[in-house]
Amino acid sequence: MLGDERVSSAYARNAQFWIDIVRGELDEYQIRVTDPALLDIVGDCTGLEILDAGCGEGYLARELVKRNAAFVHGVDSCAEFIEAAQTHPDARLDVTAFHYGDVAALPLADNSVDLVIANRLPNGIAQPGKRFHEFARVLRPTGRLILLGMHPCFYAARAERDGDDAAALSMDAYFGVRTVEQKFDVAGRVSPVASVQQFYSLEAYIRMITEAGFVITDLREPHPTAQQRTEDPWWNENFRRPLFMLLDCAPRA
Ligand SMILES: C[S@@+](CC[C@H](N)C(=O)[O-])C[C@H]1O[C@@H](n2cnc3c(N)ncnc32)[C@H](O)[C@@H]1O
Repeated sequence: MLGDERVSSAYARNAQFWIDIVRGELDEYQIRVTDPALLDIVGDCTGLEILDAGCGEGYLARELVKRNAAFVHGVDSCAEFIEAAQTHPDARLDVTAFHYGDVAALPLADNSVDLVIANRLPNGIAQPGKRFHEFARVLRPTGRLILLGMHPCFYAARAERDGDDAAALSMDAYFGVRTVEQKFDVAGRVSPVASVQQFYSLEAYIRMITEAGFVITDLREPHPTAQQRTEDPWWNENFRRPLFMLLDCAPRA
């Protein structure tokens, strides 16, 4: 097992759960909110060499290849996901490579990719800023880093969001390091074990990125559109505050 063992062991034990969710397109937040926002900010990726950092079972890498990326490297610290990505029937192993590894020690050469995407990569527990230095190392000077994660200011455990006072603990630690440990509940399916996520204040998170040599060029808070809310009031119950934050960053000149 690599790096942040508490994160990795939870992912290993939840691997089949996640593979079923992603391949069954069961996560409304992913399918209707975060994927469209992510692909919109990525834009045209024709001819790009891309790193999918924390690639999971590889759906984004497959999508980027369909969108004419020249080559996609997936890196993930969960061996079960790497195997799933490599053996997917639509995996294009001529233009993708999936590596078992920690994003804080990437198996890639300096200045070798045009775009790094960290799609729902949880914050690391040990040396959280190290990954951003690694992303800066492997990116070409003209490259971009796109980060999609839980919103540092608003994301809280489900019980806390639902107003359960007993769970109203993590936000009180906003200026420290907040840990949110909870089982995922997606479309009525509950993950076998709790995931471990670590949150830093917005200020601390941004500082990790800028100290690694990036400037932030865009910030978005992916959320349902007015039309989605009208068509399906479920969103009004389940999406009252920003849950996600999407950052577009460039190496500082
Ligand atoms: C929520 S999943 C997202 C997977 C994929 N990006 C997606 O959106 O479906 C987070 C992924 O990050 C991986 N991960 C967590 N910490 C990591 C690390 N330090 N290095 C590499 N992968 C990591 C996990 O194993 C898991 O596959």
